[in-house]
Amino acid sequence: MADAAPIGVFDSGVGGLSVLHEIRARLPHESLIYLADCGHVPYGEKTPEYIRTRCRAIAEFLLSRGAKALVLACNTATAAAAADLRELYPQLPIVAMEPAVKPAAEATRSGVVGVLATTGTLKSARFAALLDRFAGDVRVVTQPCPGLVERIEAGDLKSPQTRELLQGYVAPLLNEGCDTLILGCTHYPFLRPLLRELVPADISLIDTGAAVARQLQRLLGSRDLLAEGAARKTELWTSGAVESLERVLPVLWGAEEPVNFFPG
Ligand code: DGL
Repeated sequence: MADAAPIGVFDSGVGGLSVLHEIRARLPHESLIYLADCGHVPYGEKTPEYIRTRCRAIAEFLLSRGAKALVLACNTATAAAAADLRELYPQLPIVAMEPAVKPAAEATRSGVVGVLATTGTLKSARFAALLDRFAGDVRVVTQPCPGLVERIEAGDLKSPQTRELLQGYVAPLLNEGCDTLILGCTHYPFLRPLLRELVPADISLIDTGAAVARQLQRLLGSRDLLAEGAARKTELWTSGAVESLERVLPVLWGAEEPVNFFPG
């Protein structure tokens, strides 16, 4: 039985659009509602309690719009709030995401992997558990990246300031001998073209957007919740300035779309 209800996807801001691209490509029949919590970005420097409160408000809103599933398109929100939301909504399909430590540990040849992520993700108990479980003998070097999310929120993917900031975060990881870099924040895949200019060609860049879309498809399929039929629409919401999100959409989403304001 097909289920035409929308899938609710959210992030602290525009970063989750990198995941939304993957979901849209894999699940063209689904209606999607994306909420960018731009009025509260960045999550990376906020307390876990603050992020949990935001995630509860957003989940409640997306469910009030009829969402049949939630995607936390944010590593920082996952670290702080995935367990809380799963406890609050035990029946709801929830897909969360965390840095790709397992595939990176399998892929590295130098035995050293670098993680670019937010301070919040790297400080979390969930990330420590991820390392315990999957790093094995691989050395994992972490790099918090304050300021980077703000560049991407502004749609600035290649200015000299963004390049300099990114260079400063990547150089120490290369000096440590990393041959695999994990993009552990959903904003960072938008910097792939710039990163490719900054790191040697044999350095692998790994993110989990496509894996999240596959997991969402599996989960919905196993519960008989997949939609069928005509391609569906994508509805966009922000808790920040509507014009700011509309302005960066051509760069980050590849199309102009109307944006709604979420006052919560
Ligand atoms: N996009 C987010 C993540 O995946 C959070 C960025 C932020 O708000 O600091 O971690």
